Formats: sequence, C-alpha cells, structure tokens
Amino acid sequence: MIIAPSLLAANFGRLASETQRVERAGAERLHLDIMDGHFVPNISFGPEVVRVLRPRTRMFLEAHLMCSKPEILLEPFAKFGIDLITIHVELGERVTPLLWKIRSLGKQVGLAINPPTTISMVQPYLKQIDLLLIMTVNPGFGGQPFIAETLPKIQQAAVWRRERQLTYRIEVDGGINFTTSAECARAGADTFVSGTGLFAQRNLRTAMRKMRSIVRGARAATGR
Ligand code: DX5
Ligand code: ZN
Repeated sequence: MIIAPSLLAANFGRLASETQRVERAGAERLHLDIMDGHFVPNISFGPEVVRVLRPRTRMFLEAHLMCSKPEILLEPFAKFGIDLITIHVELGERVTPLLWKIRSLGKQVGLAINPPTTISMVQPYLKQIDLLLIMTVNPGFGGQPFIAETLPKIQQAAVWRRERQLTYRIEVDGGINFTTSAECARAGADTFVSGTGLFAQRNLRTAMRKMRSIVRGARAATGR
C-alpha cells in the first residue's frame, strides 16, 4: 500500500522545500499533476519542475499527464529522471504507441481513466501497465469532492488483476481523504493520491500516518 501526496496541493512558491517536507513526512512517492490547459481546463507545471526536484529527493516520482499531446513530454520527463509516466486512455488509438514509448524510455507505465469513461476501455492494455489510475474526480483541479460512482471500477480492476494474475497497482486520485481512502481500499485500491486531503491537515506526517493506518485497517477487514 502506498500513499502518494500530490504536489498540486503544495505551496507553488516553494516547490523544492515542499517536496522535502513531504519526504520528511514519510512519503515514498510523489504524484505530479501535469495539466496542459487543453485536455483539462487548467495549467500546472512541466518537466522543468522534475529537473529541479529530482536531485533534491529520493522519493519515487510519478507524472500524471493530463495532456492532449503527451508525446512531446515523454522524453523530457524521462531525461530529467521521472520514475513513472501515466497517460490517459481517453487518447484512444494513440494509447498503444504512447505506452510503448514510455516503456522504451525505461520508465514504468501508467494508464489513467476519467470518471465518465467505461472501465472496459482499459481492458486491452492491462498486461502492459504497471499502474492503473482510476480518477475519482474529473481531472483538472484539486479539492473536488470524491465521486462514489467510481468505486465499482476499482472493484472491477481488482477482479481482473486477480483473475489474470497481473500485478499493476490500482491507484485512486481525486477527493481522497480519511473517509474516501477507506472506501477505495475496501474496493481494492492499493495506491492513494491525496492532495488537499493531506495538505489541509496541520501536520503532514501525522496526516500521512493516519491515512496509512486507516487504509491498512480497511484492507485488513476485507482480507487484503
Ligand atoms: C486532479 C489531479 C489530482 C489532484 C488531487 O486533476 O489529478 O492528482 O491533485 O487533488 P485532491 O486530492 O485535492 O482532490
Ligand atoms: Zn493526478
């Protein structure tokens, strides 16, 4: 089980020290939301931020590309030392070459799916991915409420993984707090992205610890 704080909820005035704060709070993975103002109606940051952060942290860095043209970003992110790159299944016929390209750059491969998209869309790619990101809000902004209708998709992803003996992580992203992380854990998620839910707490370390223990409890209760 992994909790990945989202840098989107950090103070953009000091991303380097915020990253170090996240690491000191006990995180092993940092989630980076890359928004292009086209695939989603918001703009965040790009590969340059990874270039600056990579030498300052040992955390696993994952880029979640909410971008219409991820092809132009893969090489820069890879060059600057990203560990995993996630693209969206909504890109249609471009998904296969993009997944191949990420793999060929020696990086872990992630595939994301938006709330309105049917889970069957990811089925053809399951063997090729390290991580399946199930969006639990419509992407674009932090701080939105969790969409509970996404829970069956998590359950389905867990069933497929078990049946096919695959090993991809099931990650949830959007509106993840102490309550919704437990719901997602019960449904089968093992990787939890949280922005506002963690950063809004007074003490990040305590918040991380609390979420971890809640998720552990929820997973244990379902026998995971
Ligand atoms: C939403 C992003 C999320 C975002 C989550 O478009 O993909 O990673 O940072 O933020 P919270 O946890 O605040 O919903
Ligand atoms: Zn994200």
